[in-house]
Amino acid sequence: MTSKIARFFAENKPATPCLVVDVDQVEARYQALRHALPQARIYYAVKANPAMPVLSRLVELDSCFDAASWEEISFCLSAGAKPESISFGNTVKKVQAIQAAYVAGVRMYAFDCLEELEKIAAHAPGSRVYCRIMVDNEGAEWPLSRKFGTSTESAKELMLKAADLGLDPYGLSFHVGSQQLSAEAYEVAISRVASVFSELADTGLDLRMVNLGGGFPVRYRHDVPGIDHFSQVISHAMTEHFGNALPEMLVEPGRYIVGEAGVVRSEVVLVSQRGRETGPRWVYLDIGRFGGLAETEGEAIRYAIHTSRDGSPVGPVAIAGPTCDGADIMYEKAPYELPLSLESGEQIELHSAGAYISTYCSQSFNGFQPLEEYYI
Ligand SMILES: Cc1ncc(COP(=O)(O)O)c(C=O)c1O
Repeated sequence: MTSKIARFFAENKPATPCLVVDVDQVEARYQALRHALPQARIYYAVKANPAMPVLSRLVELDSCFDAASWEEISFCLSAGAKPESISFGNTVKKVQAIQAAYVAGVRMYAFDCLEELEKIAAHAPGSRVYCRIMVDNEGAEWPLSRKFGTSTESAKELMLKAADLGLDPYGLSFHVGSQQLSAEAYEVAISRVASVFSELADTGLDLRMVNLGGGFPVRYRHDVPGIDHFSQVISHAMTEHFGNALPEMLVEPGRYIVGEAGVVRSEVVLVSQRGRETGPRWVYLDIGRFGGLAETEGEAIRYAIHTSRDGSPVGPVAIAGPTCDGADIMYEKAPYELPLSLESGEQIELHSAGAYISTYCSQSFNGFQPLEEYYI
């Protein structure tokens, strides 16, 4: 936790659950990535945290934006982003959303199938398009599954078709999965896009851009490889596969930019043994799976939990949310241990909580209101 966030908690004692984000940390992360990968343009993945103070700071820094919906595009525009700095990066878009984006001046769109390409051609004529290819998400703690992307074979056909439809066949994208711990995943993906580039060049179509997606990890409970490691592997793979004819490079980081900038504070509602002498204690928090901690699905993202009693003797716990829903359990299998003296009414903190929490909050499920957010 940054000293700014610690001071905010000490001075304001906000009600829980709440999220506090240090926007200077967002800036520091943006600069670190820019420094590590100077050859790439940064398109912040708005979905990670679309709060206006985050977007405004990134606009000041000249960032570009990857938006998933017309609503995210309009947030970016309200924050002062220029339409030409926005990519409509979702491969699944409503016609009305494409129309609204086009009217607003957005001219870059993602797709991964003929049907979406035809929609873009009809409602955003002449725009730049890039085709998302499917790549292995092995090594990612939050994989993006098989929901997106197409084969390299079909990407070739689709890029040729894009030109036929009067669109600008700009490039290719991939996403190696979020919280990706293995830099090699980028290397494999780059070799795949390079093969499509070279086969299309043989037919006379020169693509110009590789979008490397997001995926750069943050520290939760364990150290992760640093951004310099990722940048070295990526730069090396780009040179190896493209030689001197390096295409434009884009990255779409979300978690890396905002994750470590935020802390969630929550109250322990109950600590109980529930008559089972042998099982772990159950710790119920006032934030749970439906209060924003959606990425604990499958116990995939494991937040570091801190208490004011850290350093005292600990024992195993299962950790759950406050609702009456049986799925509202964050950790039952993951080995979490919390102080034996922890009691209801105490506050705990989840670190690296700036990404993919605030917008996952349900509205009034079991009557609980979304967590308060503070951007400082
Ligand atoms: C198209 C696209 N780009 C970028 C991102 C951001 O990924 P990350 O937060 O892992 O950097 C996502 C995340 O879902 C995505 O779907």
